[in-house]
Amino acid sequence: MDAPDHAADSATRHVLVAVAWPYANGSLHLGHMAGAYLPADIFARYHRINGDRVLMVSGSDAHGTPITVRADQEGVSPVDVVDRFHPEFLDYWERLGISFDLFTTTMTDNHRETVHELFRSLRANGYIEPRTTDQFYDPRAARFLPDRYVIGTCPFCGAVDARGDQCDRCGKTLDPVDLGDPRSKLTDVTPEVRPTEHHFILLSKLQADVERWLEGREGWRNHVINWAQGFVREGLHDRAITRDISWGVALPDDAGLDAANDKRIYVWFEAVIGYLSASREWAQRQGDPEAWRAWWEDPAAETYYFIGKDNIPFHAVYWPAQLMGAGDLNLPTNVPANQYVTLKGAKASKSEGIGRTVLDYLDEYQPDTLRYALATNLPEYNDVELTDEELARRINDELAAAWGNLVNRVLTMTRKNFDGAVPEPVEPDERDTTILATVDAALERAGELLEQVELRRALREALTAAQETNAYLNALEPWRTAKTDRDRTATTLWTAIQAIAGINVAFAPFVPFASATLDEWLGGDGRLDGRGWSRREVPAGTTLGTPSPLFARVELART
Ligand code: MF3
Ligand code: ZN
Repeated sequence: MDAPDHAADSATRHVLVAVAWPYANGSLHLGHMAGAYLPADIFARYHRINGDRVLMVSGSDAHGTPITVRADQEGVSPVDVVDRFHPEFLDYWERLGISFDLFTTTMTDNHRETVHELFRSLRANGYIEPRTTDQFYDPRAARFLPDRYVIGTCPFCGAVDARGDQCDRCGKTLDPVDLGDPRSKLTDVTPEVRPTEHHFILLSKLQADVERWLEGREGWRNHVINWAQGFVREGLHDRAITRDISWGVALPDDAGLDAANDKRIYVWFEAVIGYLSASREWAQRQGDPEAWRAWWEDPAAETYYFIGKDNIPFHAVYWPAQLMGAGDLNLPTNVPANQYVTLKGAKASKSEGIGRTVLDYLDEYQPDTLRYALATNLPEYNDVELTDEELARRINDELAAAWGNLVNRVLTMTRKNFDGAVPEPVEPDERDTTILATVDAALERAGELLEQVELRRALREALTAAQETNAYLNALEPWRTAKTDRDRTATTLWTAIQAIAGINVAFAPFVPFASATLDEWLGGDGRLDGRGWSRREVPAGTTLGTPSPLFARVELART
């Protein structure tokens, strides 16, 4: 498996941006965007500008009971459900500027083969074995009831109507047979217990390794590391990784289970493997099938998983355990899980069907303004309650007022007074050098914060730099000196243009469309990737583009 061509290229950082795979069973809401896709994209864009090699992958999670429950309800096949929502997801990414290198699905041959490889490695290493187990069976529906087909009382926190796979209240993963007062979701009958044969992953054997690995993690969010460590300390139990169902990734031919029932691999065992299979699919599509190894096998590569908090057990515990048991693939560098965004008081989740979809918002907002308003409200540490008023306030009072307006007035004044070209500065003084030093320092701090996935605080640095540049202009009043002191005006506008060029870099991961446009107005080609996380001088004499407002304000309908 040696691939010298793809061995460590120590000059370039490799950053894998792995983003939770949404179940293709419903439209997505702003909560999903703020919880995973937008932060992942901001982080990826920062690294690309920085000159790092980014691979950002995800895809539609096509399997599992969330899909089949919906298909059953509608009387259609699971594939029909996926085929409806997968293109819709692609549309979100396109319109919102979520810059995946690949957004695939778990229905590909490549994914199945990758899952089988990992399954075989785990089994060869002694971490998978078949066992006869008790499962719920619905006699009226004449079928086994996996996961979300059973509801009952959570054995950990007592929540009623907990789903058989995971409790929404405490976040613990469940096995349907552990639920109190279980009921079939299909017929409402109390299911009976029947023996059936399944493969188990022997997490108990991996517990010590996972515990030790978690202890060594640095820079993780407290809520993530604390939850994961507490969960592991309570003891990892061997878990079934196959199900008696007919929709899902097929078992390998040599799986060796009784063939009495139709069996598939459990969705949570296979979906997380999607990060690896998507990386391989991306490499194949590049015409360089081994290219994925630079992110998965080189120990210097970094891997970040962008997920919502309900996914913490799967990404901070089970997936690392699968990787450890299988062999030599890179473990997560960080799992910057987010809390929830709530819209008007209710969790913005698909299962509750609350809130408008992303497409509804994109009909009313520019992608950049929506991204900005969400980015200032990312639920990095706490649940965040969002209203349309809050979105509008952020866009109108901050983004448009401080940043959009600054760009507009500087470029307009320069065009008016200096024929649309960047003037030559004449003896800049301390006021000029100070504002540029301020911008450079903000850019540097924003870079450090982005490295730590402190995205809200990074964005705050960009906004503050714009506000300080506005204050600089208000102090130097180029609109007034234009009538009396051409040299001073030239110096002020030259300085303001340099400041804007620097601030534009800081804003670029957050509002990429506007940043590309502004870069072109400043004489660039609109592509910041690889230029470095620093301010580049806009030389005197550069012809400026004709500015127009970068951000549309949002008017709220009066009720
Ligand atoms: N589909 C799951 C959810 O929506 C997330 C899966 S992430 C993966 O909660 F990595 F497992 F795919
Ligand atoms: Zn619970």
